Amino acid sequence: PTRRSSDLIAPSILSADYANFESELKRLEAAGADYAHIDVMDGHFVPNITFGAGVVASMRPHSKLVFDCHLMVTNPEKHIEDFVRAGADIITIHVEATPHIHGALQQIRAAGVKAGVVINPGTPVQAIKHVLGLVDQVLVMTVNPGFGGQAFLPETLVKVSELASLREQEQLQLDIEVDGGIDNQTIKLAKEAGANVFVAGSYVFKGDVDHQVQTLKEALHD
Ligand code: DX5
Ligand code: ZN
Repeated sequence: PTRRSSDLIAPSILSADYANFESELKRLEAAGADYAHIDVMDGHFVPNITFGAGVVASMRPHSKLVFDCHLMVTNPEKHIEDFVRAGADIITIHVEATPHIHGALQQIRAAGVKAGVVINPGTPVQAIKHVLGLVDQVLVMTVNPGFGGQAFLPETLVKVSELASLREQEQLQLDIEVDGGIDNQTIKLAKEAGANVFVAGSYVFKGDVDHQVQTLKEALHD
């Protein structure tokens, strides 16, 4: 039988104060966050540039949170080694970003960290069907990647349901993560569709972090 996946909250530090990552991570930990979701953008796969492996390495000694690294970079296979060395716990890469998705996911796992694959709103589940056995996590983007604070795209949830059925049918051990536009309302829709890891950036950091994380958790139990 497949493991009953537990619900996890993954605040995105994309919306944190970049001059104070140490205290921001401590705030998240105190609030009961499960992961620190780290949005790496390269100015190529997506328009913005955020932070790289050096920043992750600097944060590592200051936090016990699971570092969930979401690489929005072209040819992610070139950077896997750096993020492993920096202390990433999960490395999630876009199927749209490399012609070598299978090999890249193998590389992540061989390095001893958890592997994730991510699909953009326009990408079908079919595109990752043949690598589902190689991943610990599938991330379904619920906005187009590149920016925080965008509106949730409800039409992406059909893919979450599709993945949840596949997980059941094929007895796969994987988490289904959603990312983009998650708040205390949309999180319920995502959970209903079958997601169990919830990324939230602007919602968590727009107010008191403790309170915001709490309201997300409460929404899951409604
Ligand atoms: C978007 C990033 C998201 C983003 C989510 O490219 O992958 O992780 O930070 O931000 P919100 O929760 O504000 O939509
Ligand atoms: Zn992300």
